Amino acid sequence: MATRGLALRDSTVQLRTLNRRPGQKDNSEWLRKVKIRAHIARDLQRSNVYLAGCGFGQMFRNVWREKAQYTLALDTNPVKVREFKHHFSHVDVRCADIGTFVDWPRGIKFQIADFDAFGNPYPAMRAFFQNQIWADPVVIVVCDASLLSFKRGGRLPSDLWQRGHEGQYRGLRDAGTYMEFFVWPWWRRLARRHGLAIDERVTAFNRGKTVAYYGIRFSSAL
Ligand SMILES: C[S@@+](CC[C@H](N)C(=O)[O-])C[C@H]1O[C@@H](n2cnc3c(N)ncnc32)[C@H](O)[C@@H]1O
Repeated sequence: MATRGLALRDSTVQLRTLNRRPGQKDNSEWLRKVKIRAHIARDLQRSNVYLAGCGFGQMFRNVWREKAQYTLALDTNPVKVREFKHHFSHVDVRCADIGTFVDWPRGIKFQIADFDAFGNPYPAMRAFFQNQIWADPVVIVVCDASLLSFKRGGRLPSDLWQRGHEGQYRGLRDAGTYMEFFVWPWWRRLARRHGLAIDERVTAFNRGKTVAYYGIRFSSAL
């Protein structure tokens, strides 16, 4: 991913400076996540933003806040939801499970969707597109922790699995194989189904390469 020249907020620059101090907590994962988001959504403004796993709102504070018009933020943890609401009272924050959520705000199409619930995000992302609540163009940002189980035992979320895969990847367990054989084909199939073209992709991994962070940008293929 090209990271040079990315415009980072002041708080992000301060964090990077802090990280260089001896004995300082390592926030490189966090910085990676911020950079991916800032890059893939670099030209989006006044967007409707869906946060699937909003946590305490770190990504909102550092990236999405300045791009957001309306924000729907979901998390199953009531303490985090309360804290998020306390800091950003204008945001539509709800205590809800992204896997079962159906109470979509009427008439809203999202330009940005951030799936950061740390787990298997594929069913919730499929539902997001099936519900036709995305705008054109739309940017999706993902934290995919299924890479860990793939590396450990070759297990995959069933969504990613296709017949014939066994013979193709022949037991390879690396992060690159995971993306090329499973993740990008999943997105290509989804894009075809919804008449979308993939305009750009960016990928990064955590230090142990057990979590994939990626961003993907679509526009109408017509
Ligand atoms: C990595 S943290 C998210 C960090 C957040 N994006 C931020 O910017 O601070 C993952 C969050 O997902 C939430 N979560 C996990 N499973 C969820 C689910 N099924 N539905 C909604 N939230 C979920 C957890 O409670 C946790 O707060």
